Parts: sequence; C-alpha cells; structure tokens
Amino acid sequence: MEKKEALQALQAECLGCRECPLSQSRHNVVFGVGDPESELMFIGEGPGENEDLQGEPFVGAAGKLLDDMLEMIDLRRQQVYIANVVKCRPPRNRDPLGEEQAACRHWLDAQREIIRPKLIVCLGRIAAAAVIRSDFRITREHGQFEDVDGVRAMAMYHPAALLRDPSKRPETFVDLMTLRSEARRICQHLY
Ligand code: URA
Repeated sequence: MEKKEALQALQAECLGCRECPLSQSRHNVVFGVGDPESELMFIGEGPGENEDLQGEPFVGAAGKLLDDMLEMIDLRRQQVYIANVVKCRPPRNRDPLGEEQAACRHWLDAQREIIRPKLIVCLGRIAAAAVIRSDFRITREHGQFEDVDGVRAMAMYHPAALLRDPSKRPETFVDLMTLRSEARRICQHLY
C-alpha cells in the first residue's frame, strides 16, 4: 500500500479512538497533516483550541509562526508532515499526562512507521521528551541533532514559547539554519 493510503487508513481508525479520557472532551481528533512522502516530520505536543475545532495541527497563532519558520528555511507546510504527541486536546491546554501520552503513543509510532522520515523536529519540551529522551532539556539541547532509533532528530523551542518569549527567537533562527543545512545534506527530495 502507498504511504498516502496507509496513512488514510490509519487516520480513519484514529478518528474513532476512545482509548483515553481526552476523547470525551474533544471536538475533533487532530491526526496530522502534510506530505506522507516527506522526509521531514515535525512533532508538536497536542492540539490547542483552534486545532481541536478545525481538526488540523498548528492552525492557531503558534501555527502561523510555524509557517513563518518554515518559510525562513524555504519550505511550505505542504512539503513536510506535521503531527502531535497526543491527537486530542488536553483541557485548558494543560500538558498531556503521562498516561494520555502512553495511550496515544501507538498512533504516532504508526505514523512514523509509514512516513519513515529522515529528519524529525520536535517542537518543544514535551515532544522532545516523548521522542528523543525523557530527560531532554530544551534550553540546553535545542538545535542539536542526534540519532534516535536510526533517525536524525532535533528539538526547537515550541512556537507558542516563542510567542510568549521573543528573546528565544535568535536561538531558534540558528536552529532553523542548522535544520536547513542538515535537510540539504540528508534529504533528497526537499530542496
Ligand atoms: N501546539 C501543538 O503542540 N500542536 C498543535 O497542533 C498546536 C499547538
């Protein structure tokens, strides 16, 4: 099966998920969006209010900033794949609980398995802790690529954190330049 069809089948299954209490308060499952063939995958934390209402990741203010960040490295969101650690919105945008992340984990694993990206960028501490290492320190370790289960992975500050604290933006600019050069080196179809 092609990646597109495999992801569609997975999404259809995920839309009916009732495996954790977040499913009770959601308006929509926010499965993921983008090019199933992309070599570059972004992973955020979980849907916020706008995402919950629209069923698409990163469509609110943080999403607009993510689009701007992509533009800075000459990419559009249609060229990458964007997903979250948890697919349903945690109430009042609190951090997803360990048990919610654990219940949701197999959906993200299955997405990764289908897409098989060459590079993964975690957006924020929660995603980095889920994907790279549970004790990941975002302030110290952002912008550094490492091998995680055979895939090059790095974390950047979450766009929402950049909206709250613009003093982090210069560091993120450097991280984006690192990402672009690594993507140029490793990805064959992105640039
Ligand atoms: N923040 C996230 O981590 N993911 C989204 O989809 C939106 C905001």
